[in-house]
Amino acid sequence: MHESSLEFLRCVNCGAKLELDVFESQREIEEGFIHCKKCKLQFPIIQKVPILWNDFSKYLSSRVLLGGKLYKLTHSNKLKDFVKKSLKTKDNDRSNLEEKWARVYQNSKTSKFYSTIKKNLDSLPSSKFVLEHGCSIGIIDSHLANSSEFVFGIDRSFSAIQVAKKQFKDNLDYFVADSPSPVFGKLKFDLVLALNVLEIIEPEILLNTVSKQISKGYFVISDPYDFDRGANSVKNPVDASSLRLNLNNLGFKISNSTKKPSFIPWNLKINSRTTLNYKVDLVIAQKY
Ligand SMILES: C[S@@+](CC[C@H](N)C(=O)[O-])C[C@H]1O[C@@H](n2cnc3c(N)ncnc32)[C@H](O)[C@@H]1O
Ligand SMILES: [Zn+2]
Repeated sequence: MHESSLEFLRCVNCGAKLELDVFESQREIEEGFIHCKKCKLQFPIIQKVPILWNDFSKYLSSRVLLGGKLYKLTHSNKLKDFVKKSLKTKDNDRSNLEEKWARVYQNSKTSKFYSTIKKNLDSLPSSKFVLEHGCSIGIIDSHLANSSEFVFGIDRSFSAIQVAKKQFKDNLDYFVADSPSPVFGKLKFDLVLALNVLEIIEPEILLNTVSKQISKGYFVISDPYDFDRGANSVKNPVDASSLRLNLNNLGFKISNSTKKPSFIPWNLKINSRTTLNYKVDLVIAQKY
């Protein structure tokens, strides 16, 4: 984590400004705590990755294997104790799944989807503040950092953010965080992205969250509308027309070039014998 990112972060529990305890730092903070003086919560930074979850025990309860790895990866005793104390309960473990998907995204960087999105983004004015929800390994953020002042990516997967953090840029930082949580308080962004996350983050909640983060700026959103996920499905899926309608209702105008639904190929290399071939819709919306 860059020390300079601290001024933009807020406590996801109480909204207060945060403070840093740095245990290990080189070009950026490798290990330490971000803490909230007001509500006394502590957020660990492990292997450069800040985990801004309001209940770290709950985060680890569905990632016990990751918890074991984090314990081994940390050097300071204070952090080791913190991880150990947080490993209390055990739910279905997502650690291996999140590791697997981080690998899939690394192997799928050359999908036409990413070059199409980059081309569309290059046609927008350059931004001061950019935020990507569900950024995974940061393919798009790393590109945007070449033309924007500050770029932030958030994702709930530690494995994905660990990969994203391998690319160092002064104006680019990543956080493990839950998209609807107020990680940046009331900060307004010139550009917010949410690519292919509507199946996992309840669309209404995501759209409302993003709408509050933009007073004047762009919202770039894409999705394959692959909502059939059994028990894990979101409650209120959207389709190409209801997504555009919801954005209009939130005060966004849809750009002429994305008024009609598109079918951009998004190919994910699951393994050497399996590829997942989506056709993704893209919407570029703007508040003036
Ligand atoms: C289908 S992937 C898309 C990744 C990337 N946006 C892309 O298009 O290549 C969805 C991503 O959203 C992340 N995610 C899911 N729920 C989230 C939440 N509540 N908060 C933050 N990230 C979340 C997942 O960890 C995953 O990396
Ligand atoms: Zn707080």
